[in-house]
Amino acid sequence: MNPHIITVIPGDGIGQEVIPAAVCVLETLNLPLVFSQAEAGFGAFERTGNALPAETLRLCEDSAAILFGATQSPMSKIQGYQSPILTLRHHFDLFANLRPASSENIDLLIVRENTEGLYSRRERIEDAGQTAVAERVITARASARIARAACELALKRRGRLTIVHKANVLKETCGLFRRIAFEVAAEYPTLAVEEVLVDTAAMLLVQNPSRFDVIVTTNLFGDILSDLAAGLTGGLGIAPSANVGGKHPALFEPVHGSAPDIAGKGVADPRAAILSAAMMLDWLGYAQAAASVTRAARQTAHAGSIAITTEQIIERLLEESPHAH
Ligand code: IPM
Ligand code: MN
Repeated sequence: MNPHIITVIPGDGIGQEVIPAAVCVLETLNLPLVFSQAEAGFGAFERTGNALPAETLRLCEDSAAILFGATQSPMSKIQGYQSPILTLRHHFDLFANLRPASSENIDLLIVRENTEGLYSRRERIEDAGQTAVAERVITARASARIARAACELALKRRGRLTIVHKANVLKETCGLFRRIAFEVAAEYPTLAVEEVLVDTAAMLLVQNPSRFDVIVTTNLFGDILSDLAAGLTGGLGIAPSANVGGKHPALFEPVHGSAPDIAGKGVADPRAAILSAAMMLDWLGYAQAAASVTRAARQTAHAGSIAITTEQIIERLLEESPHAH
């Protein structure tokens, strides 16, 4: 069997620490994986003038999957700087952002639309700088495919789908998303389908998170609710995610950012990156290895040191499957 080529993009800040840790874990598994390192992010932008150099994109195009760390996102506009993660999601049409959150009594999956909504990059200044406008683009096509992905995932889980929107105010955009999501969900008669307004969803996630199975929602709502769900289940240190599309490579990344405040100190929690690598294994077809890595990472507490936590996870893995090395 040909090995799977994985493009590894650590990025900025703690991405440079947690991604090598995840690769270390993957390397103990004896799977036919080949890693090629690539650069992206603010550091790359400063060095090369391009946050996502052409060589990185080329490597990604030739790979089965991308393991991505985090990149620094400046608060203000910097001429020529585009967030590499947003560019990669668009370039490979990775329309579904899967963000699981689990702990003792919580086991939910946020399915975030990943290509449009308030992330359509249609922002402009009017009125001589006195007014800023963002266009929120919602299409029937993107709504249908994300709804279908969520329904398929709900079928494999507990069969419960929550459509989250704000159609009481955003009558056109959320109205379209809501209508299409219900139309698609109607094709899945065995699912229990409900709708919840996004503000209520935030409250219910805090009050009664175990009531949720699969949540499907638009881009920005999914961004916000997935951090909330991470906060409920142990924090960003253990929140993984997958960005998947059709035939293109899929991209796996921790939900957390580059955390410049703790970067370079060796204290970052590698578990979110390692759990993201496990999602990648699952997607590549290594379900058993994925389950082992997930178990090992979940059973390990963060020791406050990236090296020690990673070592403990690897030890657990080796205990479980002694033929790994
Ligand atoms: C995430 C991040 C990104 C997003 C940023 C860094 C562009 O917050 O993956 O959740 O908003 O999607
Ligand atoms: Mn986010």
